[in-house]
Amino acid sequence: MGRAFDIDPDDYVREKPGHQFLVRTEAYTDEEVFDLEMRRIFERTWIYVGHETELPSAGSFKTAQVGRQPVILIRDKQGQLQAFFNRCVHRGAALLREAEGSVQELRCPYHGWIFDLSGKTRLVSERNDPGGYGPNFEEPEGLVPVPRLASYRGLVFVSMDPDIVPLETYLGAMKAIIDAKLDLSPHGRIVIASKPYVCRYPGNWKLQTENIVDAYHFMHTHGGFVKLQAKYGDSTGDFGVHKGRSTREMREQRFRGSTWSCRYGHGFAQVPPADPSYFLEGEFGGFYRGLLDKHGEEGFERITSKATSTVFPSMGMIHQQIRVWRPISAHETEVLIYPYELEGAPDVFNAGMLRSQERFYGPSGFGMTDDVEIFARVTQGLRADRVQWLVFDRGMDTDEITEDGDYRGLPSSEAPQRALWREWRRLMKPAAHGA
Ligand code: FES
Ligand code: FE
Repeated sequence: MGRAFDIDPDDYVREKPGHQFLVRTEAYTDEEVFDLEMRRIFERTWIYVGHETELPSAGSFKTAQVGRQPVILIRDKQGQLQAFFNRCVHRGAALLREAEGSVQELRCPYHGWIFDLSGKTRLVSERNDPGGYGPNFEEPEGLVPVPRLASYRGLVFVSMDPDIVPLETYLGAMKAIIDAKLDLSPHGRIVIASKPYVCRYPGNWKLQTENIVDAYHFMHTHGGFVKLQAKYGDSTGDFGVHKGRSTREMREQRFRGSTWSCRYGHGFAQVPPADPSYFLEGEFGGFYRGLLDKHGEEGFERITSKATSTVFPSMGMIHQQIRVWRPISAHETEVLIYPYELEGAPDVFNAGMLRSQERFYGPSGFGMTDDVEIFARVTQGLRADRVQWLVFDRGMDTDEITEDGDYRGLPSSEAPQRALWREWRRLMKPAAHGA
């Protein structure tokens, strides 16, 4: 047997502090690198698996793939969420195949063993039949729980690493972004009321991680949309999300914010409102005034800022949606977009946000289709692997390091993209965990 494939991640990500940041082509294209990522990244970090409101009652479940591991997230009879490996403890059959649904109990389709909603073995079928199990049979107690399960404000994550840092430590600076997004609800809660929009693209998962926080691409990749917005202004009903009366104004607005490269690989881009009173005077003035009263001026600016964000490695929040991306292979990725509603916001506001997302992210929308086309183009371009490097230098000389060790960049810095690659380089080292 030959030696197992391994890499030195310092050969893949080259950083000269302050001025150069290069990533090797094979980090996107090599299937062996991809397999290592599944073990060293996806099975060693906190992975988002769903929102609590997707599992409203006992027996509600979702299935997920965490690296190479199939997982069930389910609500038990006591109302607690449980996460198990989606594998019967008898001879290995996956217990559930649907993406989501509801069950009374978990019955294995192969030989009929039954497990309750807490994973305990309830029935070993035909146990005492002739040729069945004898008195010394050590009956498995139940399904095997995933090592770690935790949630933050309704967002549920699991980890295959029993020793991982607590979820809130892991989220770090991202907690403030999640808080701001959720505090736009008068009750501080969101509800996922619809099924996700699912699409696949021919490209590596990291293209989505990079792109969702890429302030730099917007005016170029989405040039057609920008022109439409410039022509029709806010008449598309985006409530300021993609507002702009002219291309110049849109550019100025977008370039007022900041970009971040955070510990544990998270990145975000944030733009404060040009004029917070815009919200108070519009159609939903009453709704926004309630938020101003509750959170004060500083809080109001925080929650009306626009933020696009990524929780490393494969979840993001943008607009009024949670986005999840699942690596299929080095060259294929599935994206699931979950629009959410703000609990306590006017129905017409939530409906308007949903329409706005359909226009930009939906199957016939302007935005997601542009991005997917670009991912395909990058994948096509990277076939030219005689060219070794991709260039992530932008804004490095103006990024500042904060007290917490995060990097704060100017608005179109590639700081959020460097966040991904810095963490990638850290986790892909064999010495980091012996995997
Ligand atoms: Fe599940 Fe046999 S594999 S009952
Ligand atoms: Fe885009």
